[in-house]
Amino acid sequence: MDIFDAKIINLPKIEDPRGNLSIIEEEKNIPFKIERTYWIYDVPGGQIRGGHAFKEQQEFIVALSGSFDVVVDDGKQKKTFSLNRSYYGLYVPAGLWRQMENFSTNSLAIVLSSTVFLEDDYIREYDDFLKLSDDKKE
Ligand code: TYD
Repeated sequence: MDIFDAKIINLPKIEDPRGNLSIIEEEKNIPFKIERTYWIYDVPGGQIRGGHAFKEQQEFIVALSGSFDVVVDDGKQKKTFSLNRSYYGLYVPAGLWRQMENFSTNSLAIVLSSTVFLEDDYIREYDDFLKLSDDKKE
């Protein structure tokens, strides 16, 4: 897996003078079935979330409100995606290190996940992540 496997996906946007509407359907707008949805909010200025990788979990992250950056890292290269609109999101495949930062005041990040919560699926130590990504390349 490398950083080029992470990608911005544009969502349908139904524009309406009454207010806009966007949609996510599993296996249609995003390439997996949704097992879990969680959201991150009330983030104090300067805080960093999500410094870890997943062995199996794929996810799709949308800034429903405000803005933040998602930095993805494959152990060799890093790429920063700025999310600040609710009609697109970032698809993050399994096996990439990712971190969320630069949260604006009142930002709201929704994360759609391909798995239920499994602590065993986390790789929380960056050195372990580097070792696992190296092992996969051999
Ligand atoms: P974590 O995923 O480490 O947060 P982040 O990566 O955004 O900084 O989760 C923080 C805590 O919440 C951790 O103790 C695990 C718990 N948690 C659940 O119990 N269920 C969940 O679905 C998630 C995402 C986290």
